[in-house]
Amino acid sequence: MSTTSLPAPDRSLRLREALLAAAFTADGLLDLLGAPAYAALARSETVPALRATRGDSPLDTLVRLFLLQRPVPYASARAALPLAECIEDGWVVQEGDEVRATVDVRPYGGPEGQDWFIVSDLGCAVGGAGGIGSHEEGVVLGVGGASTTLAGITVRTPVASALDLGTGSGIQALHASQHATRVTATDLNPRALVFTRLTLALSGAAPADLREGSLFEPVDAETYDLIVSNPPFVISPGARLTYRDGGMGGDDLCRTLVQQAGDRLNDGGYAHFLANWQHVEGEEWQDRLRSWVPRGCDAWIVQREVQDITQYAELWLRDSGDHRTEPAQYAARYDAWLDEFEARKTKGVGFGWITLRKAESAAENPSIVIEEWPHPVEQPLGAAVVAHFARQDYLRTHDDAALLADSFTLAAEVMQEQVGLPGAEDPEHVVLRQNRGMRRATKVDAVGAGFAGVCDGSLPAGRILDAIAQLMNEDPVLLRDRTPQAIRLLVEEGFLEAAGQA
Ligand SMILES: C[S@@+](CC[C@H](N)C(=O)[O-])C[C@H]1O[C@@H](n2cnc3c(N)ncnc32)[C@H](O)[C@@H]1O
Repeated sequence: MSTTSLPAPDRSLRLREALLAAAFTADGLLDLLGAPAYAALARSETVPALRATRGDSPLDTLVRLFLLQRPVPYASARAALPLAECIEDGWVVQEGDEVRATVDVRPYGGPEGQDWFIVSDLGCAVGGAGGIGSHEEGVVLGVGGASTTLAGITVRTPVASALDLGTGSGIQALHASQHATRVTATDLNPRALVFTRLTLALSGAAPADLREGSLFEPVDAETYDLIVSNPPFVISPGARLTYRDGGMGGDDLCRTLVQQAGDRLNDGGYAHFLANWQHVEGEEWQDRLRSWVPRGCDAWIVQREVQDITQYAELWLRDSGDHRTEPAQYAARYDAWLDEFEARKTKGVGFGWITLRKAESAAENPSIVIEEWPHPVEQPLGAAVVAHFARQDYLRTHDDAALLADSFTLAAEVMQEQVGLPGAEDPEHVVLRQNRGMRRATKVDAVGAGFAGVCDGSLPAGRILDAIAQLMNEDPVLLRDRTPQAIRLLVEEGFLEAAGQA
């Protein structure tokens, strides 16, 4: 597709109508391919899908053309598409009596069942184990695991303005277009802005304000209610691939992005980033990240995974297909990666999410929570993010006396598990487990379990503790004295909801 002459919006709409009429949607694909071939496609394996699309229906044709990127007969393409327009606009080209796609067009189901389409470069729609298959610097990738993770953790309250920094195929801008009146999407790579425009148009979403440039440069003096970025966070020895290598040393690109976001957020606004960070010898990783949080912002940082430097180098060498090059070239690249880490005294790399919330109260007394949670979570998590900050606000403004005077309710879908030897009279320990949101688990003692069990919002915490003290033959004053810390933890982690919580 030419990036200079773009299809007119009404023509994108006609193409959208044709794709929908053929059931070229997430549900339609699943029906046609069946679950195993559909899942294989997400792993970049195309053979099962090729076998499932031997028919001549418009849907078979569109899957082979845009997803599997095979030439299709001209007559089949004409039955499935407004073909003359598609050729003129550059979506496809004619080669003899066949037609082939110039871009990858992939159905993508929105959170409310919307039929969306993500447009990206050919061969780059999914990472997969085999690498993206292109070493061109300016390639624009489709949706990957990082893209959907970021979309899932983003707070989706209606806002006036949203910024998607490093928009790529436009997936984050597309999500934002559903709850932001005005969406700005930026990218260093001008080709990405073209793809974002196509993704939005083909998905039937409002157009975004598209701007070319690095980091916050294109939006210098503007502020937003929401900022999202899945940036080129890979820590690599020199920038080779714009979509993933930031081109600044180490984790400097992520640090700069986070630090500069504070001035670009409106009060009450959220910024969400995916990031990688170095684990450096002689430094706590949490201290490194704390130093990134800009003044005036609360932060919630979750480390989801840590890799040692060899795993990390191999992951990205495979991602770019370098493992399929000459052994000597592969070894030299691997070596360069380890040299870079050695020079930076880096022993590992953390992967995770960084969320900032701009708040007046944060100027004096910010809430900065930095934690490790490598376990599965329930996406989407946007509502859990809002609840996290509300709980932090509550805890900051309620001392122990206020806590004991408040009443609490056990959060929905919290279960108790007892762990111990079979046949033992008492469990070795009791665990409370959430089945929603972060799906946390926490150990509690007998008082904690008893307390959580009776929290239905009807009695103040202090009165419940007095009753527990009586039952357990404990001094109620001592129990009131030592338990607030445990209640705080249960509130902080979302097991208990306070009546006085916003
Ligand atoms: C990992 S991709 C993310 C694409 C998309 N937002 C998503 O979530 O799938 C990173 C994007 O950042 C862009 N980028 C790279 N360096 C940049 C910079 N210095 N400033 C802004 N964007 C940049 C790349 O061109 C690429 O489109």
